[in-house]
Amino acid sequence: MPNATVIDHPLVQHKLTLMREKDRSTASFRLLLREISLLLAYEVTRDLPVELVDIETPVAPMRAPKLAGKKLVFASILRAGNGLVDGMLDLVPSARVAHVGLYRDHETLQPVRYFFKAPAELCDRLVIVVDPMLATGNSAVDAVQELKDAGAKDLRFLCLLAAPEGIARFEAVHPEVPVYTAAIDEKLNEHGYIVPGLGDAGDRLYGTK
Ligand code: URA
Repeated sequence: MPNATVIDHPLVQHKLTLMREKDRSTASFRLLLREISLLLAYEVTRDLPVELVDIETPVAPMRAPKLAGKKLVFASILRAGNGLVDGMLDLVPSARVAHVGLYRDHETLQPVRYFFKAPAELCDRLVIVVDPMLATGNSAVDAVQELKDAGAKDLRFLCLLAAPEGIARFEAVHPEVPVYTAAIDEKLNEHGYIVPGLGDAGDRLYGTK
């Protein structure tokens, strides 16, 4: 998986294991997703450029690093993406947010578009597209395509769990977009669920069926 980075920090792995447990409550799952999103966001932004600026501390003047370069956009693939974006905004409150509404047709497993709203000047921003699950890859591929069509040029894709099939499909269509994930699981089942996975991320996050 040349384009995929596995974020194998012990805290990430621990929280992910708790999230996978089938009897975990909705409230606990939601809290864990929020906590883990901070750690994932930390890793996906690790190489952002900084520049030295002149400031004064209460003790002395100094040149200190500040974020430089492109402004950030977090693009949430609705609805489960919101569970990651909420925590990421705690870390980068100045980030803009795009929403890409896609649902998976349960028969065909193909994404169906129903909503798209993104900040202006996407071409000048770093767009981090988020969805907890990279399963077939169909939704991720389509969401990134919509963002590219709206002008985005510099993109990263962040998820919690990926299937090898999803990564392969994503890389085949968007080879220049790096993928970050906390784990790559074994496979997809015949319903397009990640195995062993954690079930339906949106249902577990919002307590729906
Ligand atoms: N979407 C989910 O929420 N879970 C999966 O296992 C696959 C896609």
